[in-house]
Amino acid sequence: MGTMWGIYTFPLATFGFVVLFMFILDSIWSLLQACRAILAPLFIPNEETSLSKKYGPWALITGSTDGIGKAYAQELAKRGINVVLVSRNEKRLENTAREIEEKYFVKTKIIVADFSLGKKAVDTVKDAVGILPINILVNNVGKQYEYPMYLTEVAEKEIFDIININICAVTLMCRAFINDMRDRGRGAIVNVSSGSELQPLPLMTVYAATKAYVKSFTAALRYEYGGHGITIQHLAPMFINTKMNSFSKRLQKNNFFVPDAEEYARYAVMTLGKIDESSGYWTHGIQTFFTKFLPAWIRMYIGAHMNLSFRKDYFEEKASTNNNSIKKIEVE
Ligand SMILES: NC(=O)c1ccc[n+]([C@@H]2O[C@H](COP(=O)([O-])OP(=O)(O)OC[C@H]3O[C@@H](n4cnc5c(N)ncnc54)[C@H](OP(=O)(O)O)[C@@H]3O)[C@@H](O)[C@H]2O)c1
Repeated sequence: MGTMWGIYTFPLATFGFVVLFMFILDSIWSLLQACRAILAPLFIPNEETSLSKKYGPWALITGSTDGIGKAYAQELAKRGINVVLVSRNEKRLENTAREIEEKYFVKTKIIVADFSLGKKAVDTVKDAVGILPINILVNNVGKQYEYPMYLTEVAEKEIFDIININICAVTLMCRAFINDMRDRGRGAIVNVSSGSELQPLPLMTVYAATKAYVKSFTAALRYEYGGHGITIQHLAPMFINTKMNSFSKRLQKNNFFVPDAEEYARYAVMTLGKIDESSGYWTHGIQTFFTKFLPAWIRMYIGAHMNLSFRKDYFEEKASTNNNSIKKIEVE
């Protein structure tokens, strides 16, 4: 028996070492890129750090009148980049554009488009952009469930909207603008997915699956076009205090792990051109790193329980709002 183990010890240990090595390499790749980004200015002083010099002066951000998209547009404008803002509501677009122009003295352009319409919206954007060179494309727009739900509770239209916005828009927007970037020999694409891509996520099944698509699509796209001077980044944030998470009051307060959109975007823009796969925020990086240590089935189990507790928050809040309005009617 002892001799038999003796024969297998070396190949087993080698196999174990290789698996562990690959796992650690994969997990700390972003960390190594971050270290490179911090150290590069010390050792490679000629490296271009201005986004507008590196990629060009115009960026287009989808879903840019609120949350991460708006904050990201402001961060780019702060660096002197002109911004094309795309959302559904013209009034909000005008207000956001005015705010950015007055604060950062850059040019803006607004485009009204609803990405739940799929190709139609992308054609609208492409036509409205015309010959303006889009040097940085930020595919930020995304749709989530109103609150954690079982699949049959989600309206069919909601499911199609989520797929159109989270998958079709990202895919077709990349397809619409990437050839121009390739021809210019420079450009950047940021595809915003979510930490929910890390494993299947019960009670947000469709949302998490669309974000896993974005991760896979972005990595493969980088392989196809990365050699033409185009940065193709996958950004996978954890929770951020935006209205998307309004189903739970616990996610509507900033804390160490839940920044607001402005704080998040400040870090996320810093990673552009430096880290290809990033959570975009330092405490989210810590969360992602440790999450990946667990087997996917344990992560899914934890995710399911978190969603059940957020679902409870949602119904408790709804019940208390209903009670308050009943009391108000009784008083009146
Ligand atoms: N918040 C988080 O915790 C979190 C975590 C991970 C990943 N993410 C991802 O980050 C991205 C941004 O999320 P967020 O939290 O910043 O969202 P948000 O606060 O809800 O903002 C959404 C933005 O998109 C626009 N929009 C919504 N539906 C649209 C549509 N059909 N067509 C065009 N524009 C539309 C909205 O403006 P109008 O309503 O005026 O159109 C708004 O400007 C999403 O891809 C999301 O999945 C968010």
